[in-house]
Amino acid sequence: MKQKEILLFGATGQIGRNLIRKLSKNNYKIIAVTRNIHKAGYILKTQANPGYLELVELNNFEINKIEELMKRASICINLIGILFEKKKNDFNLIHSDLPALLSKKANEFKLEKFIHLSALGIEKANDSKYALSKLDGEKRIKENFNKHIIIKPSIIYSIDDNFSTKFMSLLSALPMMPLYYNGKTKFSPIHVSDIVEIIFNMIKYPGENLVLECMGPEEMTFKKIIQNILISIDKKRILFPMPYVLAKLSAKFFQLLPNPLLTEDQLTLLKYDNCKSGNYKNNFDLGYIPKKKFGEEINKYSFNWKSGGQFNVKLQDKLK
Ligand SMILES: NC(=O)c1ccc[n+]([C@@H]2O[C@H](COP(=O)([O-])OP(=O)(O)OC[C@H]3O[C@@H](n4cnc5c(N)ncnc54)[C@H](OP(=O)(O)O)[C@@H]3O)[C@@H](O)[C@H]2O)c1
Repeated sequence: MKQKEILLFGATGQIGRNLIRKLSKNNYKIIAVTRNIHKAGYILKTQANPGYLELVELNNFEINKIEELMKRASICINLIGILFEKKKNDFNLIHSDLPALLSKKANEFKLEKFIHLSALGIEKANDSKYALSKLDGEKRIKENFNKHIIIKPSIIYSIDDNFSTKFMSLLSALPMMPLYYNGKTKFSPIHVSDIVEIIFNMIKYPGENLVLECMGPEEMTFKKIIQNILISIDKKRILFPMPYVLAKLSAKFFQLLPNPLLTEDQLTLLKYDNCKSGNYKNNFDLGYIPKKKFGEEINKYSFNWKSGGQFNVKLQDKLK
């Protein structure tokens, strides 16, 4: 039987890097699309046999090139996403126009499936540009191609993430940490290997279309997440509730930076719990039960942020 060719957009991202390993280990042929082939060649790790991973450089989403790639693919997976806008309208372009184009082409070229990554907890966030653009993308995919699978994960963590490791660095450097909305916003962190397992299984999902909310095994407030990270890096820091006006002012300042710590839109989104809406099936309903717990998993890589590193043992422990 001819092996399926998977056309992967956003291959160099946190999920993409991990998904490529899983796919290539299982002998899928992958066409990985990136804006910068040199960066991709440096970042991507694979178990693929020669010829099973092809890197394609694509800028500005040239339609004729996308069509050429679609002709060869059985399944298209879209992992492209952004957390903040560099230019006005970037959210719409990346989260709505692009998935609309890809799903339209997937339909035109009769692909078996279009798998797309959206986000959890965005249904009520109608004052966040990020959330509105992601929801619009979902709507347009549903209109364009019936054979879609839309995956809506909570926050994803791993040693190569931009979340737990970022907070480990911040908490190591700062004497105190602000808690927006009193740190009460809820999340359901899921380890990247668990989300990759779900996406991988979706390739063989027998149904025509599906929207799937994906959560980890625990629901945790933002404060609890920060407390877990502090325990893991063995540091004590003052956690203080930051008044909204001050938070807004700091976000206004941060978003001037090229890689902002917090933007006004992210602050808006943080108001809403990042938990299942109940409007869709979720990974638990389908029997995908993530076992990796946040506190235990981050302990496996937090030594990079501990004073003295991995092998530092307190003197009294050594003398026991
Ligand atoms: N990570 C999470 O916690 C999380 C949670 C919920 C939802 N999601 C969603 O899951 C998807 C994948 O997440 P991820 O964490 O793997 O993302 P990521 O690490 O930020 O990577 C996203 C990829 O998108 C591509 N990209 C970024 N800006 C682009 C642009 N302007 N034009 C074209 N390509 C661009 C990049 O590929 P190149 O640089 O190679 O071109 C990058 O590798 C995204 O849609 C994200 O919104 C993620």
